[in-house]
Amino acid sequence: MQFLEHVPLAPYTTFKIGGPARWFAEAATEADILKAVEFARSRNLPLFPLGGGSNLLVADAGFPGLVLHIALKGIEQEKEIFTVSAGENWDCFVSHAVERDFAGIECLAGIPGTVGGTPIQNVGAYGQEVSETVVSVRALNLATLEFEEFANAACGFSYRRSIFNSTERGKYIVTRVTYALRESGQPKIAYADLKRHFQNSATPSLREVSDAVRTIRRSKGMYIVAGDPDCRSAGSFFKNPIVSAEQYVRIAAQEEIEVPHYMAADGAVKIPAAWLLERAGFHKGYALGEAGISTRHTLALVNRGAAKAADIFALRDRITAEVESRFGIRLDPEPVLVG
Ligand code: EPU
Repeated sequence: MQFLEHVPLAPYTTFKIGGPARWFAEAATEADILKAVEFARSRNLPLFPLGGGSNLLVADAGFPGLVLHIALKGIEQEKEIFTVSAGENWDCFVSHAVERDFAGIECLAGIPGTVGGTPIQNVGAYGQEVSETVVSVRALNLATLEFEEFANAACGFSYRRSIFNSTERGKYIVTRVTYALRESGQPKIAYADLKRHFQNSATPSLREVSDAVRTIRRSKGMYIVAGDPDCRSAGSFFKNPIVSAEQYVRIAAQEEIEVPHYMAADGAVKIPAAWLLERAGFHKGYALGEAGISTRHTLALVNRGAAKAADIFALRDRITAEVESRFGIRLDPEPVLVG
């Protein structure tokens, strides 16, 4: 295992932004992870585990510690139970499952990043969330250096959230995830975009549904295609805010047009952040210096070519201030900030 110095991080991120890692190493096994933790501890360095880099914004100054690229590979199957190492590419695993006729993650096709990242932010799209299929998560406890197994209920899943990005943030490194899929199960066609896509076909297959999701994502610039400028992003930059029913009624009364919304848990209401941005004057293709908004989806902030993290922050701040002053909603960014 090699410990490299001053490695630029921008190429490891979908945003293509960020300064260098003071130290950088790649872990192919759990033993490598332990070695890297030891290396960082003995030098008193902070440690950042890097997966697919698809939900990250790295600071221009880079990261002063050790960036550990999690490259553990392997997919094991025991009937309907799939145990997948954290460094496997997520979309490849979706294809692997769909090709073998296993249902449960077909709507999560085309999401960039690695398997290890999926339980951390409870990845979700087009009517599915990984929390519906995760059986357990194996992770290294950085305080005790023991590997622990978290059953689904212990992960504290909710919208874009788990204990790993909230109460226990920074305390664990996920090394593998076990999913329970359904052999020959029906694909889930619940999301409006998918229903529209299949309005004239009676029983689409799992493969047709996962292909349709990739097509829909591509139309929104949310499927990474090399050279597509709308893809120099971290996907959705803001979470969809969840407000109380009273707050929704107040917002609906102030707008002259219908405010789109979905019911969330406990009578709360989820409002699409993309809609709030557009109403606040941030349209597709909006630019602020080298930072901008995707030409195909308002929720994706993009690097227009030479953006620094500071440019993205300036646009983020302008958007959050404007949305807050118009709607009284403080938007919460989705990407993880590094450095
Ligand atoms: N909308 C706009 N303008 C746009 C796009 C959307 O006003 O340019 C409004 C419309 O009202 C639309 C609504 O937002 O009906 C919802 O749009 P969409 O179906 O594209 O979904 P989203 O809420 O913007 C979420 C996830 C995506 C996920 C899609 C599909 C979040 C933060 N984002 O986006 O996840 O792919 O649903 O399920 O929850 C990601 O997290 O990085 C991500 C891409």
